[in-house]
Amino acid sequence: MSSSPSFRDTPLAKVSEYWNSRPCNIRHSPQPVGSREYFEEVEARKYLVEPHIPGFAEFEKWKGKKVLEIGCGIGTDTINFAAAGAQVTAVDLTEKSLEVARQRAKVFGLEERVRFIQANAEKLSESVPVEPYDLVYSFGVIHHTPNPESVLEEIRKYLAPSSTVKIMVYNRRSWKVLWILLTYGKGRFWKLDRLVAEYSEAEEGCPVTYSYSRSGGRRLLEKHGLRVTDVMVDHIFPYSIPEYVQYQYKVVWYFRWMPKFLFRALERAFGWHLCLTATPK
Ligand SMILES: C[S@@+](CC[C@H](N)C(=O)[O-])C[C@H]1O[C@@H](n2cnc3c(N)ncnc32)[C@H](O)[C@@H]1O
Repeated sequence: MSSSPSFRDTPLAKVSEYWNSRPCNIRHSPQPVGSREYFEEVEARKYLVEPHIPGFAEFEKWKGKKVLEIGCGIGTDTINFAAAGAQVTAVDLTEKSLEVARQRAKVFGLEERVRFIQANAEKLSESVPVEPYDLVYSFGVIHHTPNPESVLEEIRKYLAPSSTVKIMVYNRRSWKVLWILLTYGKGRFWKLDRLVAEYSEAEEGCPVTYSYSRSGGRRLLEKHGLRVTDVMVDHIFPYSIPEYVQYQYKVVWYFRWMPKFLFRALERAFGWHLCLTATPK
């Protein structure tokens, strides 16, 4: 794990302010926010760009099961769990994301299947009744909170011996980190933690973004009573940004000429998403 004391000391209000000002994936569609077309396009774009998510989440597997999602954002994965037949409790720090996610459940007639709760994952049990869940799922969230270890401690309270935990955190040994270092950092590796946070998201200036090596991610979970059963690395964003923001998908020249198998090998070795699956020890 990156060991920046400034992340640990960041007030949660700063984190909340950042995500409230631009919820994750909010501009994934140009349609009016909250319409069915909007949500369909958001989902299509998300899984086009991050096609490994359905395989990692295994939405169908949780039919008839209880899922606790930590940091649901605008609810793309949430709705897929619910549509597949899970009973979902979805929490997020920010009201803006929850507002959009709630509207999404309404539009798709899944309100009965999802309970949304505004909560700080570091103090989850203060807001979310403690009961066992079949799956605790958190995609791209705990590396954005000042004290990820506290979230892991909280997660423990929601586990039965047969529960599964699926967590995605950012991979430190990734193409993206190298790209940030070369593009924005001019090689200033001693500023890496700050640079990664600054440029990790679509909107610059994220206050907290930790990143973990494979073994660091594994350790993070194992320190908190979990046994890691699978570690998967995936996802390199291959598109040219000026076209991408116009909803066009033009692959950058250096990936365009790369054979697909080589690009996939690169993603599996140096992808940005470190996807960990675990069960209680
Ligand atoms: C990158 S987004 C990911 C959202 C969603 N999981 C997805 O994949 O689209 C990060 C989310 O984590 C939430 N978050 C950050 N810190 C949190 C905390 N301490 N407690 C709960 N949610 C938090 C943010 O509000 C934001 O919605």
